[in-house]
Amino acid sequence: MREYTINCKKGETVLDALRRQGITIRAFCNGRHTCGKCRIMLDEEKMNEASYEEMYLLTDEENAMGARLACFVRPDKDDVDELKVTILDMPESETAIVTAPDDDMSVSLDPEDVEDLTFAAIDIGTTTIAAELISNGEVIYKGGRINSQCSYGADVISRSEAAIKGNAEQLSDCVMDDINALINEFPKAPAHIIIAGNTTMIHLLMKYPVAEMINYPFRPYYTGWLKKNFMLDSGRVLPWTILPNLSAYIGGDVVSGLYYCGFSDSDSVNLFVDLGTNGEMAIGNRDRILTASAAAGPAFEGTRLNAATDVIKCMANLRDSGIIDENGALKDPYFDEGYNYRIDSSGRFVTINQKEIRDIQIAKSAIRAGLEVLMREYGVRASDIERLYLAGGMGHGLDIQSAVSIGLIPGELQSKVITVGNSSLAGAIKYGRYNFNDDDIEKIIAVSEEVTLSNVKEFSGLYYEHMLF
Ligand code: FES
Repeated sequence: MREYTINCKKGETVLDALRRQGITIRAFCNGRHTCGKCRIMLDEEKMNEASYEEMYLLTDEENAMGARLACFVRPDKDDVDELKVTILDMPESETAIVTAPDDDMSVSLDPEDVEDLTFAAIDIGTTTIAAELISNGEVIYKGGRINSQCSYGADVISRSEAAIKGNAEQLSDCVMDDINALINEFPKAPAHIIIAGNTTMIHLLMKYPVAEMINYPFRPYYTGWLKKNFMLDSGRVLPWTILPNLSAYIGGDVVSGLYYCGFSDSDSVNLFVDLGTNGEMAIGNRDRILTASAAAGPAFEGTRLNAATDVIKCMANLRDSGIIDENGALKDPYFDEGYNYRIDSSGRFVTINQKEIRDIQIAKSAIRAGLEVLMREYGVRASDIERLYLAGGMGHGLDIQSAVSIGLIPGELQSKVITVGNSSLAGAIKYGRYNFNDDDIEKIIAVSEEVTLSNVKEFSGLYYEHMLF
């Protein structure tokens, strides 16, 4: 919760006014009046009255205390010069959930390979921005903060639309401000910055056009390496290396993850999956890599259970205890009202409704069908896979048995799963530790090919088959 004094012009919403004045607020639906996240309190009577639509998005308690939603509120008549606004759901930097690279996967280095160079590795994620400072090969500082672009929506489509509507400058500034804030926390100044991020994040940072990436022909403006000098707020000019993307859907974060997991020098065939709104995945080795992305929707990131870890375990528990059937239908008497589920990790209860179960079914069957297609297209079976690398926040603490039991992961791969945490950040660190040598990343780019799942005949059949729990 934080209070600001802003000015709000006639005709402008408080959400727009906050953005204009560089204040970050959670606005996951980008002001489309659907998410209910932009909650504020106001000390001003000259604003419009709350509508039923707005009140519907707030809880009874919030309505009783007079909370409002910033994307609904605007001045009744004239400009309001001094508007006191308290943002209730503040995206504090310290609340960022930053997943570190998994320690088991740390890169062993020949000390002779390490130059005495201090560099920052930064992963620009859609939700969080994670940074580590490395000096003489050792990580000496870890930081993270919520990506301030969350004021323009939670997902890459909302943010791209905001950029197309004239906010490209502000979206880039959001990330630059976040990077500057992270660097200001460092105990020592870096001499170089290495960045990995998904294709949209890099486009928005660089203010590249995104219209052709989110619409037909779904083509990015630029996917190659970026090696440039940037000026920080402190006035220091630093060289930045931004790792290359593969396509609109397979970004530098995945390339970095594949590099971290050793795809550039492995003879054996491995799988890589990063679970999020888009489930990015890859299969292959040093000679050939196939990549794909499956639209998983918000189930693994945006539910009230908060993490895929809880979501997957919850589904396995509900199925095992007969509360949902194998089609995912809640049994009576829970079908209409939902089921009150106790989350192990927090002890909280949440009501799981039929729509959330459907979202999870869609997500898990999209990922599983994608994995099956990749294995078929590659000409291997699950038994031929040596390792399955699970990247992203969900990997930590994931109950692999539950993931297998709901059908997210093929049973044959259960003992082959290695969780790698934020492999995008870890790949950026590895790149710096290996003296900024582009060769291995170039190899990955050269042997990678993207499979468009919707163009593969078997995908829809596999998708329906794996909807079952
Ligand atoms: S309701 Fe989503 S931003 Fe306001």
